[in-house]
Amino acid sequence: MKKLSARRRHPLAALVVLLFALAATGGLYAAFAPAGEAKADQESSQSLAIEEGKKLYATGCSSCHGTGGQGTSDGPSLVGVGAAAVDFQVGTGRMPMQQPGPQAPKKPKIYSQDEINQLAAYVASLGSGPEQPTKKQYDPNGADIAKGGELFRTNCAQCHNFTGEGGALTHGKTAPDLSNVDEKHIYEAMQTGPQNMPAFPDTVMPEKSKKDIVAYLKTVNSDEAESPGGNKLGGFGPVSEGLFAWVFGLGALVVVAVWVAARTAKAKKS
Ligand code: HEC
Ligand code: HEC
Repeated sequence: MKKLSARRRHPLAALVVLLFALAATGGLYAAFAPAGEAKADQESSQSLAIEEGKKLYATGCSSCHGTGGQGTSDGPSLVGVGAAAVDFQVGTGRMPMQQPGPQAPKKPKIYSQDEINQLAAYVASLGSGPEQPTKKQYDPNGADIAKGGELFRTNCAQCHNFTGEGGALTHGKTAPDLSNVDEKHIYEAMQTGPQNMPAFPDTVMPEKSKKDIVAYLKTVNSDEAESPGGNKLGGFGPVSEGLFAWVFGLGALVVVAVWVAARTAKAKKS
């Protein structure tokens, strides 16, 4: 006891305690600070993206969609359409729209992917909607292609045709050919339902089914895709196949009939 109190009163005791305390706070700081800082970093880069997106939006989009995304007579409200809709519309060049028409056409995109992400961040900040899918969600690897084909035929083929060649709809609108569409954009089209296409949210079509459909479309439209039944005839399904049967099948019968008639006429004459 006596020994301890003697040590406490040692002239260096205060210094030792001070050093100890400093080391402990430093250690604690090192242990906890980086996580907090990284989070703060992420938050500030997110708000920076929204800031940048807001500027891009003000010059490129607000004339039609309103200064706060509330919509005008020239364009619908973007509140709640979500980042996925922006990534799809701007990423496929449909937006910014150039002239009014029955359907915003696909064009070469004019924004870089970074700018698109900023626009998406800004629009998402106006109201929550579907987020941009991650690669894991749309990557066709490991998906069930046969199931995807089945789902495609029941949900999409009525507009896009059996293997996604597309087709005409009413009032000058068309369902586009899906053969050269990005995997991500296929996924986003299902999430957001652009223009005349219905949306297929996760409640109606689970993530896994969307992935299967992406895999199906990428398989039937790849250049190596083989066609076990011979020439695909453009892949338009029963219409072109039926036409082929009519034109060539009936044509052959007509030729045969004419030939038989000519033979009998000749035979009668001689
Ligand atoms: C010339 C007017 C015009 C401009 C400029 C324009 N848009 Fe649009 N936008 C439209 C119209 C019209 C539609 C609706 C298209 C339709 O349904 O046929 C639309 C639809 C959209 C949609 C789909 C909304 C939904 O309900 O899914 C998004 C997202 C969008 N625009 C984003 C943008 C962004 C981002 C920009 C700027 C880079 C932009 N637009 C610029 C007119 C415009
Ligand atoms: C009622 C008809 C209809 C149905 C059903 C439909 N779509 Fe669409 N789809 C459209 C129309 C119309 C467009 C063009 C919209 C546009 O240009 O903004 C489109 C656009 C797309 C695009 C964008 C293509 C591109 O060139 O960027 C993809 C991908 C797509 N559809 C996939 C699907 C899938 C997958 C399904 C089934 C799960 C489906 N669609 C069901 C009518 C339909």
